[in-house]
Amino acid sequence: MNNVWQIKTKGEFMAKFNLTKTSQWQNLEKHFEVMKEVHLRDLFKNENRFDEFSICDNNIGITFDYSKNIINSETLRFLLDFAKEAKVHQYSEKMFSGEKINWTEKRAVLHTALRNRSSKPVLFDGKDIMPSINAVLEKMKKFSRDLREGKWLGATGKKITDVVNIGIGGSDLGPRMVCEALKFYADSSTPAVHFVSNIDGADILEVLKKINPENSLFIVASKTFTTLETITNALTARKWLVAKLGEKAVANHFVALSTNAKKVVEFGIDENNMFEFWDFVGGRYSLWSAIGLPIACFIGFDKFEELLEGAYYMDKHFLEAPFEKNIPVIAAVLGFWYNNFFKAESYTILPYSQYLHRFTAYLQQCDMESNGKTINFENEKINYSTGSILWGEPGTNGQHSFYQLIHQGSKFIPCDFIGFVNPPENVGDHHEKLMANFFAQPEALAFGLTKDEVYDELTKSGLSFADIELLTPHKVFEGNKPTNSILIDNLTPKTLGALIALYEHKIFTQGILWRVNSFDQWGVQLGKVLANVILPELSKKAQNPHDCSTKNLIKIFIDKKKTNLQENI
Ligand code: F6P
Repeated sequence: MNNVWQIKTKGEFMAKFNLTKTSQWQNLEKHFEVMKEVHLRDLFKNENRFDEFSICDNNIGITFDYSKNIINSETLRFLLDFAKEAKVHQYSEKMFSGEKINWTEKRAVLHTALRNRSSKPVLFDGKDIMPSINAVLEKMKKFSRDLREGKWLGATGKKITDVVNIGIGGSDLGPRMVCEALKFYADSSTPAVHFVSNIDGADILEVLKKINPENSLFIVASKTFTTLETITNALTARKWLVAKLGEKAVANHFVALSTNAKKVVEFGIDENNMFEFWDFVGGRYSLWSAIGLPIACFIGFDKFEELLEGAYYMDKHFLEAPFEKNIPVIAAVLGFWYNNFFKAESYTILPYSQYLHRFTAYLQQCDMESNGKTINFENEKINYSTGSILWGEPGTNGQHSFYQLIHQGSKFIPCDFIGFVNPPENVGDHHEKLMANFFAQPEALAFGLTKDEVYDELTKSGLSFADIELLTPHKVFEGNKPTNSILIDNLTPKTLGALIALYEHKIFTQGILWRVNSFDQWGVQLGKVLANVILPELSKKAQNPHDCSTKNLIKIFIDKKKTNLQENI
């Protein structure tokens, strides 16, 4: 049995490996038959449950309480045995040491090197990459400082007051989320930062309406520098700027973040104004690289470094902590438990912090683009469920929207609650009220309200017997809805860095458990190719065969589209 778990990094063909037939999977399957009948109310008869199923790290200030999960110590043992057999630790060492674990693209996965705060070298193809990484960090430091201190000026000698990041996917979601999350740390040197991602012209139009070309800097963020959305938006911004300030102004008002110097130069951005990163940084893991430049401009480079430090802290925790005390590993196996045994169809991320209002959107790409795969390490189609459908909104907004379905709907939806003891802001008693909800919801989800409790409550309220009979079934909460609570001492750049890295490693671990390549994204290609086929058809420059639905929709669009309209930009 053991050889089937052997480490694979290149996707060599290994026929007939069936993960679900391994003894570790079958142990879990048998154990699930017992656990599916267990209620959290019974599990909590053990008064030590919090001590047994929580990890409190006072160095960084994170408490990870996973006691409200449908598990006992045996479940945890089976799950962690599975993770050990799957060689999660060995694979993580391969990742950190620069092996090409992204075998379909023949790439290493080294976003962790970007936040390596030790003096230890990181080898890639036999060469230490830390000097190059540190050189780019230095360049980012100088640029962000000059910009914030008003030393980097626009073409007409004016200070830059507005930074516009043009990028999409990983070149947008990470920096956008972090700038929102750390908004409180903005100071008097902070420029306004705008994010343009959508190819829909409305996105860039509404930003351009707000800014003055003389005070604006465009950061064109694209790993490949070929992404249709980004290049279209960048060309529009360039045209707008040149129309107002002339061609020469491009040098002062455009910088690029990319791995593709050739394309950057072709676009008309001087290579000196390009901040480099490398193929071993995946787009959705790139906020730690030059892609973080808008963050450094927004909160200052020192705080950007604190963000890196937090991620580095979590990297060490992930590599060094035994599985029993390893937050990303435990979060990963719990997600796996619900996905593959309880057959949970989705998973919610619920930050009780308005500052984290883009956190779930950011994680959607990180998780779903990473693990939405169906081909395993042996290049075979898998026969079990992979990838989580993530969704969520900040609390308490979500409570007045979709929590009803989580509490009483027919779907089984595990949740992560994320909250802070000390938020950066201090506004009356808002935080206590927010956090009362943060504590109340997981409790309600776990324990619910039984028929007897409802009956007693309604009887005390003096309702008639008929009304009690009518209302009781509607007011019952079955409970037994699992949650993790991540309670963080303070919302700082450092703790945010650690939180993001926690989820990155959770995603990595799940990829290993499911034996999929978490670092490619072939699934986004087909739609892009077809859009390129259709584009010339919309201006009647081409005609291609389509199914009757697509053909008729395109025809209606062409027939009804108004032409000769005046442009807004
Ligand atoms: O959506 C596909 C994707 O390749 C993402 O993985 C990536 O983050 C995004 O497009 C943007 O790519 P780029 O940074 O090359 O413009």
